[in-house]
Amino acid sequence: LISRAFRHQFIIPDWSGFTKHIEDFYWKCKTNTEGKVASYIPQLARMNPEYWGVSVCTIDGQRFSIGDTSIPFTLQSCSKPLTYAIALDRLGPEVVHQYVGQEPSGRNFNELVLDYGKKPHNPMINAGAILICSLLKTLIKPEMGLAEKFDFTMNCFKRLAGGENLGFNNAVFLSEREAADRNYALGFYMREHKCYPEKTNLQEVMDFYFQCCAMEANCETMAVMAATLANGGICPVTEEKVLKPDSVRDVLSLMHSCGMYDYSGQFAFKVGIPAKSGVSGSLLVVIPNVMGICTWSPPLDPLGNSCRGVQFCEELVHEFNFHRY
Ligand code: DON
Repeated sequence: LISRAFRHQFIIPDWSGFTKHIEDFYWKCKTNTEGKVASYIPQLARMNPEYWGVSVCTIDGQRFSIGDTSIPFTLQSCSKPLTYAIALDRLGPEVVHQYVGQEPSGRNFNELVLDYGKKPHNPMINAGAILICSLLKTLIKPEMGLAEKFDFTMNCFKRLAGGENLGFNNAVFLSEREAADRNYALGFYMREHKCYPEKTNLQEVMDFYFQCCAMEANCETMAVMAATLANGGICPVTEEKVLKPDSVRDVLSLMHSCGMYDYSGQFAFKVGIPAKSGVSGSLLVVIPNVMGICTWSPPLDPLGNSCRGVQFCEELVHEFNFHRY
């Protein structure tokens, strides 16, 4: 970083000018009081709706944070692109996509529906993510028990995050498991349709899915993960090659078309950058070859996206030309 600074080779040369804009967007979005905090489990319902944080990490490791960026939240659906990335990287897209599609479902994220080939539509919705968990559990290092597989996955997440803070929220895990009628229904429905690889233990897969949702990180850490995706799979903090560039391309393609629930089409149209939201109010945003961003604000709009997060992205592309087209 220092040698680049001397050579004036930063990816964003006028860093303080850029971060001044980020601050402006932050304050503008702070006044947005729309949305409701998720209430299906008590641990999320208790979240303070005032929490609001934005962290940025460029592909050459320049960092900026403002607001509540060091408070941990559970990854929830932001874990979906990460588990998908691990599956792709270890198994290759041909194997992974024998089991899961690449099509937006056009429905809610937890809807009881499969595509025409009786596969989950994509890995960014619950059915697809549960299926991806079955691939991770059953096809990658199948000799590992659930505990080992949890460690393995957490370690992969940590490497994406450059080794930074990553935790696990046991209360959220236990609550998720209690309030999971729909997820169990999806799990059994997919078993009925023979969606899983042979030898899949569904109860273990469901627990593994809830565990991935209950992993915990803060905005600063998640921005590094997003930056690793922006950087073709090389973590900008450690310079470790964590994912193959082809895996990253596939993950970003599906974040672009399916990452924002049933708002994905509109988001792709208006904002035009890959993103993935989670029900705890986090939003993982990737500007390929430039930077990763994480925003966090618990109040959600009726489709399940963080209100301040979506507004922030709109402000960002209004000012800067990050829209892919
Ligand atoms: O499976 C669930 O309902 C949550 N634990 C994850 C929800 C979430 O963030 C929605 N995602 N697509």
